[in-house]
Amino acid sequence: MSRLWEPVSLGKLELSNRLAMAPMTRDRATPSGAPTELNARYYAQRASMGLIISEGTQPSEDGQGYLLTPGVYTEEHQAGWKLVADAVHAAGGRLFIQLMHVGRASHPDNTPHHRQAVAPSAVRPEAKMFTAKGLQDIPEPRALDEAEIAQTVADFRKAARTAIAAGADGVEIHGANGYLVQQFLAGNSNRRTDRYGGSAENRARFGVEVASAVAEEIGADRTGLRISPGATLNGIAEGDTEAIYQAFVPELARLQLAYLHVVQAGDDALLRWIRPRWPTRLIVNRPGRPREKVGMDVDEGLADVASVASLSLANPDLVKRLQTEAKLNEPDRTTFFGGGEHGYTDYPTLG
Ligand SMILES: Cc1cc2nc3c(=O)[nH]c(=O)nc-3n(C[C@H](O)[C@H](O)[C@H](O)COP(=O)(O)O)c2cc1C
Repeated sequence: MSRLWEPVSLGKLELSNRLAMAPMTRDRATPSGAPTELNARYYAQRASMGLIISEGTQPSEDGQGYLLTPGVYTEEHQAGWKLVADAVHAAGGRLFIQLMHVGRASHPDNTPHHRQAVAPSAVRPEAKMFTAKGLQDIPEPRALDEAEIAQTVADFRKAARTAIAAGADGVEIHGANGYLVQQFLAGNSNRRTDRYGGSAENRARFGVEVASAVAEEIGADRTGLRISPGATLNGIAEGDTEAIYQAFVPELARLQLAYLHVVQAGDDALLRWIRPRWPTRLIVNRPGRPREKVGMDVDEGLADVASVASLSLANPDLVKRLQTEAKLNEPDRTTFFGGGEHGYTDYPTLG
C-alpha cells in the first residue's frame, strides 16, 4: 500500500491523502476574469485529491497573459472564487489558488489594458502566444523600474488577501515555467544591473520579496511556492540553475512556507540537495510520470506530496481509480484550453 494514501499536515491543514492536483490553466473564466459555477463544479468534482492547486490566476492586469484566465484582484473575482472555494469545501476538499504573473509571456491583445507587457528586462522571449487573432509572436516587453517592482509585490500581497477573503485555504506563488518570478531568476531574461540582477542572490530577490510579502499578509502556513529548476518554457535559459536555487531555496526556507512545489525534470541531484534543506512540506511533480510511478517519490521519502496534472484533469475520481487500479480516462488535449463543459466537467467517474 502506497504512503500516498496516508494523511499529511500542510500548514494548519490536515490533508486526507498525499496526492495533489497540480495547477492547470483551462481558460474558462469570464472575459473579466471571474470564475463561474462551471469552474466551481470542475474543482468540486476533484475534491478527493488531498489538495487542489488552482489554475494560474493573475494578481493584476499586468499579470495576465492568456485569454479567459481568472484574476484575483477585484470584488467580482473574489465572488467568483468564493463559488469555487465553497463548492470544494462542501465536497470535503482543500483549495490553494495559484498566483501567476506571466511577465513577458503575454500579448497586449490578451490583457484588459492592452499595454506593453512588463518584465525584469526588455528581452523578448522567442515564443508565440495564442490570441483572439490566432498565434502571434510575443512582442518585446519593457523593464520594470524599482517602484514598479514594489508595486508588483504589493499586487501579489493584495491578491493573496483577496484569495483568502474568497475562502481559499492558501495561495501558491507561481515561480515556475518561465513566468515573472523565473524571468527574474534566469540570466537570459534578467539583464538588470541593480539589486534585482547580476548575482544569483540578486536575481532571487524578487521571488523572495513576493514570498515574504504574501506570507506576512496571509501567514506563511497558507503560502506555497512553485519552482521548475532548469525548465526552458517561455524562452527561459537559466544558465546557472544550481547556483540560482542554492541561493533562492534557503531564503525561502527561512520563511517557513507551507510548502515548496518542485516541477522535477532531468536528474535528481538538485532535488536531493533541496530535500534535507526544506523545513516543511515538499510537493513534487514529475511531468509525464506513468500512473504506476505516481507514488514513488512519496514512498521513497523524496517528497511529502505528489502532484499530477493531466491525470487529474481527465479523472475526477483519480484517487479512487488509483486505489482500486481501475482504468483511467485519457486526457483530451483538444479541450485543455478554452471551451465549456466538454472536456472539463464531463469526464466520467467510475460506476
Ligand atoms: C492544461 C494544462 C495547463 C497547465 N497550466 C499550468 C498553470 O497554470 N500553472 C502551472 O504551474 N503549471 C501548469 N501546467 C503544468 C502542470 O501543472 C504540470 O507541471 C505538467 O502538466 C506536468 O505534469 P503531468 O505530467 O502530471 O501533467 C499545466 C499543464 C496542463 C496540462
